[in-house]
Amino acid sequence: MMYSEKVLDHFSNPRNVGEIEDADGVGEIGNAKCGDIMKMYLKIDNGIITDAKFKTFGCGAAVATSSMATELIKGKSIDDALKLTNQAVVEALDGLPAVKIHCSVLAEQAVRSALSDYYTRQGIDPLPIVGEIHEPEE
Ligand code: FES
Repeated sequence: MMYSEKVLDHFSNPRNVGEIEDADGVGEIGNAKCGDIMKMYLKIDNGIITDAKFKTFGCGAAVATSSMATELIKGKSIDDALKLTNQAVVEALDGLPAVKIHCSVLAEQAVRSALSDYYTRQGIDPLPIVGEIHEPEE
C-alpha cells in the first residue's frame, strides 16, 4: 500500500489539531466498523468559517483527511464547506489507497455534522440544508 507524500505529511504533521472552546458548531462522526472517531470544531462568523479544528481518534488516513478537510474549509463560506466532498479531500492529498477511501468520508461527514450543529444552535432545522449525516459505508 502506497501513501502519497501529502498524506504522510498531513499524518505526521497534522494541521489544526485541537478543540475550539467557544465553537459555533461541533460535529462528531464515527465508523462503527473500524471504531474510528472524528470530532470537528468550527468557528463561524457571518457565514464564513474563520477557524476549524479537529480531534481524530483513528487511523493515519483519518488523521490526514481531517487535517486536509480543515485546511480546505478554513476561510471559506458555509456553502463552499457544504460542497466539500471526500473526493475533493482525497484529490488534495494526491490520492488514497482504495481501502482507505472510507476514511475520507469520515472527514466529509464530520464537517457536515459540525455545520448541522451550527444550524441547530441557530434554531434552524439543518436537515434541508445539510442533509442526513451518515456513517461511511464500506
Ligand atoms: Fe477507520 Fe480509517 S480505518 S477511518
